[in-house]
Amino acid sequence: MSPASDLLANTLAQTDFHPGLPQQRRLYEAAKAAIHQHLLGAGNKLPSSRDLARDLSVARNTVIAAFEQLAAEGYVTSTLGSGTYVADIQTLTPVGAKTTVRAATSATINAPPLSKRGMQITEFAAGPRFEIQPFVPGDADFSSFPFKLWQRLQNRVWREARSELLDYGDSGGHLPLRQAIAEYLRISRSVKVSVEQIMITSGTQQSLDLCAQLLADVGDTAWVEDPCYWGARRVFEACDLVLHPITVDADGMALEAADLATNPRLIYVTPSHQYPTGAVMSLARRRELLDVAVRKNAWILEDDYDSEFRYTGRPLAALQGLDTGDRVVYMGTFSKVLYPGIKVGYMVVPPALSESFKIALYDLQRPGQLMVQAALADFISLGHFTTHIRKIRQIYGSRRELLRKTLVNQFGPQLSQRVTISSEESGLHLVVELPEHVDDVALEKLAAESGMAVKALSTYYLAPPVRRGLLVGYAYVTPDKIAYYGKLLASVIQSGVR
Ligand SMILES: Cc1ncc(COP(=O)(O)O)c(C=O)c1O
Repeated sequence: MSPASDLLANTLAQTDFHPGLPQQRRLYEAAKAAIHQHLLGAGNKLPSSRDLARDLSVARNTVIAAFEQLAAEGYVTSTLGSGTYVADIQTLTPVGAKTTVRAATSATINAPPLSKRGMQITEFAAGPRFEIQPFVPGDADFSSFPFKLWQRLQNRVWREARSELLDYGDSGGHLPLRQAIAEYLRISRSVKVSVEQIMITSGTQQSLDLCAQLLADVGDTAWVEDPCYWGARRVFEACDLVLHPITVDADGMALEAADLATNPRLIYVTPSHQYPTGAVMSLARRRELLDVAVRKNAWILEDDYDSEFRYTGRPLAALQGLDTGDRVVYMGTFSKVLYPGIKVGYMVVPPALSESFKIALYDLQRPGQLMVQAALADFISLGHFTTHIRKIRQIYGSRRELLRKTLVNQFGPQLSQRVTISSEESGLHLVVELPEHVDDVALEKLAAESGMAVKALSTYYLAPPVRRGLLVGYAYVTPDKIAYYGKLLASVIQSGVR
């Protein structure tokens, strides 16, 4: 679903939005409000009447009538064969004098509250919402969090009453936490790291933002995987970088001659477990990427968001461990292993960058939460972190297997030939790949009607051709729910592939 469809669908889903009016009038009101609030900005192309009718599940005539009304009042312009575009309501020259007055007044009242960048950021608003619902990709099972233990560690920190822990955190974060993370990364992820290189951030989102601000300028190019993690994409767009999508295949990011003709400042990758396809970047591709980064003087941002969840064999080594040219900024997060609201992540920056990152982290973010960082340092250094990972890895691994079996059994031999379930033994979601002709967005919607929050693979792409499929998260879902909803999901998929 396009961002515009999503925006209008959300407005129409509000039961108190003009409840008494007919559908076409509600749609007209929804679009008009969005244009006045600059959520649909001047020059934006609206979806075709056919697409919008499909996305909103209304008759096409309803959309056409709403578009005609908007065009008559000057809110949109339509050109045959080219589509419908949002007009610039500041310079509106509507049909009648009465409308002129009304439109001009409301445009003044609704003077754009946001910058152009702000409007772009909020216009998207299509990132997955973290609702706790069966099969939301990326959600972990917070019920297995060791509450009592955490409480004890927190209490101890508070009892010590160290006033310096109530201050802002300078120097890249609480030293014992940085030491504990360095030790963990050396042993578990083969990362080459000294404590000086570690910066504690409030999660990967902030790590990416700092890198974009410090390492790239407006208009610089960022290579991103296609399909891509929407969170990274949003940060780069908000920093006015030009995104250059690079195809992902079974071996990860696949560079072609046309890609190599461009000059990136940043290269964003998820080599251990590509998000969202799950592909693992091959050794040859890792070497090639490191080589290219040196040649192009670019920085690789390695987002290692979930490699703790590898269910068979040892976790894969990080790309950073192979880096001899100091081109990689490695990023990790506690969002998945502990809980997202902890808002603690970290970066390992090349030695030459560490002083600058410390300064920028302090000046731009004023980091804090040292009490949480202190409890977390104890949690890791006392061995609870690795115990917790072992426990949830086992839980999620068996849920993954149960979901896969439930789907395969339900698909039967015929459907199993046309649908592929991702085979990588890691992560928090699996991908059910669908034949090209299947409308995965429609299936996402259909699944939502039965209470399942799967995500369509095609919506993660920046450029065609897109692959069709569904991202199905299993970590949060209990075995009885997997058995129940798994069957339901299989029948939704069956109905779409038929
Ligand atoms: C690819 C990827 N990277 C990073 C994150 C975590 O980011 P944060 O630390 O900002 O919660 C997520 C969360 O869903 C993710 O999917």
